Amino acid sequence: MSQLLDSLRNNRIVPLVQSNDSTTALKISEALLKGGLDVLEIVLRTDKALDCLEAIVKEFPQAHVGAGTVLNADQTHEVIRRGADFIVSPGLDLSSVKVARAAGISILPGIATATELQEAFNLGLNTVKLFPASLVGGPKILKAFSSVFRDMQFMPTGGVNPDNLLEYLSIPSVLACGGSWLTPKDAVESKNYDTITRLAAEAIELSKVR
Ligand code: 3PG
Repeated sequence: MSQLLDSLRNNRIVPLVQSNDSTTALKISEALLKGGLDVLEIVLRTDKALDCLEAIVKEFPQAHVGAGTVLNADQTHEVIRRGADFIVSPGLDLSSVKVARAAGISILPGIATATELQEAFNLGLNTVKLFPASLVGGPKILKAFSSVFRDMQFMPTGGVNPDNLLEYLSIPSVLACGGSWLTPKDAVESKNYDTITRLAAEAIELSKVR
């Protein structure tokens, strides 16, 4: 986790990469890296997502390539086999946490309530994803959670965009923000990879404003 944490401290943004073919996934990743982001979350939302993950891991050894939308223990095993550096889930699944831990891979399960957060805390986890962040209370719920779970760190995802990024990042317990705004569907479909590079660079600039 420490190298991943160092990268996230540097750039507190985790872009989602979604594609059904490895060539496109590599182009998206290349554009993000060119823009300065080196922590990438490849989401398991297409038939070929695992192949995309594996291709990106091989092509960009300098990046931290994680798997997102990981729903169960089988998928957790598989993304680890394909080289995922970290794992993100929309919810909290004990069997996935156990598999990731046994393999020594960081897992950020999603939580949306105090009960789920307490469960994560009692599992010994210290970093979770808040999902879907904007719908479950946004920065306000993060501040409320943080006053109770004092050492917990969060990666809000879901509805994060350039308009609210700074508000999230200004909360001390927010490790990083995740989101798909950096890899818009229309830019991918039109192969407008320069747009992705520009969005990544703009997000980094924005995140450095204090
Ligand atoms: C996720 O998987 O974390 C979310 O679907 C991302 O949400 P966004 O598309 O609003 O960034």
